Amino acid sequence: MSIQRPKGTQDIIPGTIEKWQFLEEQIRKICSEYGYKEIRTPVFEATELFQRGVGETTDIVNKEMYTFMDKGQRSITLRPEGTASVCRAYTENKLYALQQPVKMYYLGPMFRYEKSQAGRFRQFHQFGAEVLGGEDPLVDAEIICLIWDFFGRIGLKGLVVEINSVGCPTCRAEHRIRLQEFLQECKDDLCPDCQNRFTKNPMRILDCKNSSCQKLTENAPTTLDTLCVDCAEHFAKTQEYLKIAGIAYRINPRMVRGLDYYQKTAFEVTAEGIGAQNAICGGGRYDGLVQEIGGPATPGIGFAMGLERILSVMEKQSVEMLPEVEAPVVIAALGEAARQEGFRLLGDLRQAGLPAVMDLLGKGLKGQLKYADREQARYVLILGDDELSRKMVIVRDMRLGEQQEIPLDQIKAFLLNHTKCEM
Ligand code: HAM
Repeated sequence: MSIQRPKGTQDIIPGTIEKWQFLEEQIRKICSEYGYKEIRTPVFEATELFQRGVGETTDIVNKEMYTFMDKGQRSITLRPEGTASVCRAYTENKLYALQQPVKMYYLGPMFRYEKSQAGRFRQFHQFGAEVLGGEDPLVDAEIICLIWDFFGRIGLKGLVVEINSVGCPTCRAEHRIRLQEFLQECKDDLCPDCQNRFTKNPMRILDCKNSSCQKLTENAPTTLDTLCVDCAEHFAKTQEYLKIAGIAYRINPRMVRGLDYYQKTAFEVTAEGIGAQNAICGGGRYDGLVQEIGGPATPGIGFAMGLERILSVMEKQSVEMLPEVEAPVVIAALGEAARQEGFRLLGDLRQAGLPAVMDLLGKGLKGQLKYADREQARYVLILGDDELSRKMVIVRDMRLGEQQEIPLDQIKAFLLNHTKCEM
């Protein structure tokens, strides 16, 4: 049997890759306009980074990490997300010495050992952005604006932005007590995961997807009930700025997010029509994270969106995303001398910025013309011994179905002239 790709992974092949490239182009464009610089971190890190950063009580760390010992007996993990790595890089490269806040974005594969299903992969790709060194609620609003603007630009419709405040360690301690008091009576009826969460991280019970847990916790106290003055002010200011920016959001007091580092603002964007895995973007503030992994006390906020899910929404909504591809010039050469001349000409045309290809399999004229057809050539240059001896080339205009002879030394200028006029 032939070898197949691992479960939960995908090959992105020609025909599909163009959609990814389109998305990536839009990402780079908007990030540059909003003043975000790209950061690239390793796809694997010391396991401890995620244990301390993402948190020991999360599903990601407990169940989903690709962890292995390397040949030097170090525990290594394929990154399940990008935020912890960006915070590590911020500290390790002393980015705190630069003008603050530092605004960075990343694009790349993440790895989670999850049960694969529609929209949920073991290797998936995120576009994420992080702002480090800014605690003002204006930063929270600006980052949500970027997300909203991005989705608008790529033409997505029917999205819902949900926000919440999960508070800070001080007000969360109060919430924990109140929530545990509330849950005391129904604790044994919760699902096994939530029973586990009861002592480890009770707040996460609030966004359990199990309908019976949801029913039992319908009237449970949320983090919004116990926000301290500072967190409440931060949340109110963030909303004020979101209103100024014209962003329609919904407050969801039960959305607490599945990573431990969040404080204050948390948010998610969901899309309709792509099934159960409908979260296309998630993020929030993580003011304690840089310090948690050994850096200086630094506020931070960011988001990440799943590119596979975004592409799936774009497909469902029939969003046009194929960029215009410049049709190539195809050189059809007959005989070795013409092939050599054709090969030289190919280099010349490419140097001049014209996409150009030629048959590499030694096909006859008919085969080469068929090849030109499949490549959707705009022009075919036909070169045989006869043309070569007269230093001419036949130019066939595939759109008009006409052909003419042009001197070989004028062909580059001719093509440049004609293709430029069409642009
Ligand atoms: P997250 O919610 O775990 O947050 O993931 C962000 C997005 O990645 C999700 O909304 C979803 O679109 C996509 N995603 C997650 N898991 C999968 C999967 N198995 N298959 C396909 N797509 C997936 C984070 O990763 C945080 N680091 C976000 C953040 C940045 N918070 C602050 N800064």
